[in-house]
Amino acid sequence: MYDTPFLDLPPLASAAGTVRLPGSKSISNRVLLLAALSEGTTEVHDLLASDDTRVMLDALRQIGCGVEADGAGGAVRITGLGGRAPAPEADIFLGNSGTSTRTLTAALAVLATLHGGRYEVRGVPRMHERPIGDLVDALRQLGCRVEYLNTDGYPPLALSPGTLQLYTPIRIRGDVSSQFLTGLLQALPLAAAAQDAVIEVEGPLISQPYIDITLRLLARFGIDVQREGWERFTIPAGSRYRSPGSIHVEADASSASYFIGLGAITADPAGIRIEGVGADSIQGDIRFTEAAARMGAQIASGPNWLHVQRGAWPLKAIDLDCNHIPDAAMTLAVLALYADGPSTLRNIASWRVKETDRIAAMAAEARRLGAAVEEGADWLRVYPLEAPGWRAAAVHTYDDHRVAMCFSLAAFNPARVPVRILDPKCVAKTFPDYFETLFALARAPVDDIPVLCIDGPTASGKGTVAAQVARRLGYHFLDSGAMYRLAALAAVRAGHTIAPEHEAAIAALARSLPVRFDHGRILLGGEDVSDAIRTEEAGMNASRVSTLPAVRAALVALQLSFRRLPGLVADGRDMGTVIFPGAKLKVFLTASAACRADRRHKQLISKGISANIDALRADLEARDARDSNRAVAPLRPAPDALLLDSSELTVEHAVSQVLQWWRGRQPFSS
Ligand code: DC
Repeated sequence: MYDTPFLDLPPLASAAGTVRLPGSKSISNRVLLLAALSEGTTEVHDLLASDDTRVMLDALRQIGCGVEADGAGGAVRITGLGGRAPAPEADIFLGNSGTSTRTLTAALAVLATLHGGRYEVRGVPRMHERPIGDLVDALRQLGCRVEYLNTDGYPPLALSPGTLQLYTPIRIRGDVSSQFLTGLLQALPLAAAAQDAVIEVEGPLISQPYIDITLRLLARFGIDVQREGWERFTIPAGSRYRSPGSIHVEADASSASYFIGLGAITADPAGIRIEGVGADSIQGDIRFTEAAARMGAQIASGPNWLHVQRGAWPLKAIDLDCNHIPDAAMTLAVLALYADGPSTLRNIASWRVKETDRIAAMAAEARRLGAAVEEGADWLRVYPLEAPGWRAAAVHTYDDHRVAMCFSLAAFNPARVPVRILDPKCVAKTFPDYFETLFALARAPVDDIPVLCIDGPTASGKGTVAAQVARRLGYHFLDSGAMYRLAALAAVRAGHTIAPEHEAAIAALARSLPVRFDHGRILLGGEDVSDAIRTEEAGMNASRVSTLPAVRAALVALQLSFRRLPGLVADGRDMGTVIFPGAKLKVFLTASAACRADRRHKQLISKGISANIDALRADLEARDARDSNRAVAPLRPAPDALLLDSSELTVEHAVSQVLQWWRGRQPFSS
């Protein structure tokens, strides 16, 4: 997951391949709460692991449910309350999760009344701006005690015991958020032991497909709601939650929209295959496929898969009522940039009360890219953007995962300008690995993948600085010295002395090093050699091996293979001169020999290795001389490298200087 302040997407050319999507947020959070209210244990498969489900799981633990996870990717087992009383008190934090806040509020309000508990429900500041008044009014009709702790109509809320009444139907507005009705539908079975519970919807009901998901899942947990149109819902007396034992969460159809969009855009005829959600999905957002098809995408589907290819290009402009696909429709706003005329998305008033005001956000960010956009209270019109109009812009994401994800599709712009996504980690709400998944499918001409080189002599601090710069940019990191250290280690282990007469044999070894890089560890033939290649002796052997031209040539392909999306920071001796001569920024990091000897000395002492500073300095200077005087790729700054003397700088200062130079080479306007 990208935990960087921004992520720069280089211009992307095409995409192809298969993607398996994470579980649906809507289904995951409903299933968790229903399992928590049921008798028995429910094994939940393919649960979405994200911020929104984490806050729900934490809350369920707090109120006394059993939550056991098998570990990454495994099933989660929820042991429900059944008829048991929940924990008598809890202060529950639900982040920015609308589903969790609305549905848990309703369930806890009823539980507080049935069992005498007291609960507080709160979230992030944005959650305290998202309306909940209609749900609170409905819960008060039911006899629950719900109080506003700050502002009337908004969380945080306090829930305490009231007196249930089911004699008259509970009336709820349906035109602000369908989550209010979902909350009531999930809470009322708790109260309907002896008497029918009836809900009547006032006014039109928006986002009906989400209510459909709620009803289908309620049925899986033993509750058969009787529905008259979309106006009246009856939970029959005697209803009781029962665990289905095991349940599978289908992949998120809203998340699928980005990859359907990708399939519609990509010129690669292989297209995009999406697994985990298909034509038979119970999620309303699956109908995004119809909208994408109207824009020109060619879509095939089966029970648990979709396959999307580009059809019409440019895409065809649309004018669409998006009430049935409120979340996925945001993706249409970005696809509209690639259309043959203005596209209008209508009936999207609910966008204004989501993670952010999404109509305002989509309009502002599309404009930042150069597009003309018009907006109304409940509609948005986006005009296509021709190549000369595109601007390299920093897209603001408003802590809204969907804004971040859908604007990533702007990286396919015909002007081939990069797109900066601010606060990329906001995708963790529903899809923590979104960008990694995108990069696994996307292709860019290798010259468009940015490279930043940091070369310099041994112990200049380049490794530390380069690794930190890579982390701050969310880029891959190549420690090219490690390649020479690995080649030397493999040579020594194979019994070769490092000398010209073994050059061909060592080069052959280097060409097919069985190396794997795994979360910062380096594996050679399956063995973790991260420490073995870091000794002083290994460094000296690496310096020797690096003078052999055939070995250097043998390591080129391995080093080039690190240049992958979204970008690379490479450190070494010849990154800027030989391996990546076209790099966007080259830095040559130096420090005085005295200073480097002192750093190396401190490093060794901290590892508990005794060392003599004068001997270290002599070694360094010998290594400098060998690295600088060898015939091939000697250590020297590229003519266009910027020199940075780190003798008097902290690592942090050196890192900020490099980042500042990097920023200066970017085209972003805002
Ligand atoms: O950066 P380091 O200390 O891990 O490098 C070990 C040796 O490898 C170094 O003395 C010279 C050689 N090397 C090289 O020749 N070219 C590179 N790009 C990186 C390292």
